[in-house]
Amino acid sequence: MKINQITTTPYADQKPGTSGLRKKVTSFQQQHYLENFVQSIFTVATGLKGGLLILGGDGRYYNTQAIQTILKMAAANGVKKVMVGEQGLLSTPAVSHLIRKYKAAGGIILSASHNPGGPDGDFGIKFNIENGGPAPTGFTDAVYDRSKSLDEYLITETEDILLDRQHTCHIGEMQIDVIDSVYDYANLMEQLFDFDKIKTLFTSGLLTMCFDAMHAITGPYAKEIFEKRLSANIEAVINGIPREDFGGGHPDPNLAHAKELVARLNAGPTAPDFGAASDGDGDRNMILGKNFFVNPSDSLAIMAANAHLLPGYQQGICGVARSLPTSRAVDKVAEIMGIDCYETPTGWKYFGNLLDDKRITLCGEESFGSGSDHIREKDGLWAVLFWLNMIAVKEQSVEEITRSHWARFGRHYYTRHDYEAINSETAEALIQNLREISTKLAGTEHSGYKVKLCDDFSYTDPVDNSFTEHQGVRIVFEDESRIIYRLSGTGTEGATLRVYIEKYVTDPELHDLPTQTALAELINIANTIAEIKTRCNRDAPDVIT
Ligand code: G1P
Ligand code: ZN
Repeated sequence: MKINQITTTPYADQKPGTSGLRKKVTSFQQQHYLENFVQSIFTVATGLKGGLLILGGDGRYYNTQAIQTILKMAAANGVKKVMVGEQGLLSTPAVSHLIRKYKAAGGIILSASHNPGGPDGDFGIKFNIENGGPAPTGFTDAVYDRSKSLDEYLITETEDILLDRQHTCHIGEMQIDVIDSVYDYANLMEQLFDFDKIKTLFTSGLLTMCFDAMHAITGPYAKEIFEKRLSANIEAVINGIPREDFGGGHPDPNLAHAKELVARLNAGPTAPDFGAASDGDGDRNMILGKNFFVNPSDSLAIMAANAHLLPGYQQGICGVARSLPTSRAVDKVAEIMGIDCYETPTGWKYFGNLLDDKRITLCGEESFGSGSDHIREKDGLWAVLFWLNMIAVKEQSVEEITRSHWARFGRHYYTRHDYEAINSETAEALIQNLREISTKLAGTEHSGYKVKLCDDFSYTDPVDNSFTEHQGVRIVFEDESRIIYRLSGTGTEGATLRVYIEKYVTDPELHDLPTQTALAELINIANTIAEIKTRCNRDAPDVIT
């Protein structure tokens, strides 16, 4: 085996964001760009030397080239064994599970999640540590530091590895197992949920479903689980073949992007009873009923309230966590159940310590992500199965389950307004202004809403005491309504301003308003306080979820 030491020059922009390093494909295609970042990972993740690495991606454009490069670099950097998904495919939750199951030193996931793919789209690379979760900030900072002064990387000179079938081969001493991408993950799901009960729903004709894989990674997983193991109806899985450009779509499971699915669920009496979708790398989920949308923050709360009914969570849950901008619906459940509820910064990595320390069982984010202690990533298909299992046990529709939850715990009307591709300096200035006025807002009144608290959110991890600041400006009103502002950490073009708005309503008579109507006053307040229109020169948000 010939190892080459390639001389390189550092790139200044390899700082990982909310979820790994995410850039345009064209950035990754620059000379040595991928190699530099991968070498920085191998240098920082010392456990990989002599250890096991899990490797796979969501199948987007550049996935296979990147995998070949990483395999050759892994061998040169002394990795003992790599398990790589067939065709280079592995969902993010599957990687997390494989790391844990096979006690790997870490995993590399190639994905830009829900961002569009193809030659003009985005690509990304993410490292997960031995607990199966995203690398914490200390690690990603070290990788970034390394990347800034990197002057060489190691790579073996060898033929490409065949990825189109399961087999075992070697590059020098390093063993490569090309594995079934789906098998282990599907087995894990079967342990957590009552597959027999769910299967009966389908075989007895009580329920029909439609899952939109959006031409992304979950296609093969969904076919195995819903069609083969659960005998779901025909067309239970649509857009099930992963494509390099996601069929030209935007693989983000929300009402704006999963249009085909939404149309099917709103098609009247013939519509499926249950609808769901997942994103590029399979960690997000959207849950729909017939003509009915479940807000992800509500979904988390509903799961928390019902977990004990499902085989994997029979013992009950020990605690829950949500990211700052996620609605406080789950807090109400925790309060009544008498369990702890943690509020963390945005991004799954902040849940890792809480899960490892057994402080929480379930966690989630408003951005269509939920998960549990079964792995250390959010998990799209897991959430779908959780809902199917709840429907089977409770013998209620998606809408009935949600409405009865609101009747018991109150409803949190919730929306997120995104202003995309705004000038970065404009966005920074807007947030800076909010930080400055945040100290003076408490006690002020806005269209009848009195500010109880306003601050720039910071978080001290209760397990390792690590401190994270500037995670979003939050305004909490006396009536429990909230407005939160933050800038996205995953975009690849300019800045994206996210404004999160929430209002808590207990009276069931008032649970039927359209979300934007129920929140209209608060939306105005949010726009006025932040001066969004004048500062950003925008009349309306680009995306509303
Ligand atoms: C977004 C979501 C966040 C999620 C992340 C990765 O990050 O808002 O909840 O963890 O994608 O999927 P953002 O772009 O807001 O930084
Ligand atoms: Zn994702």
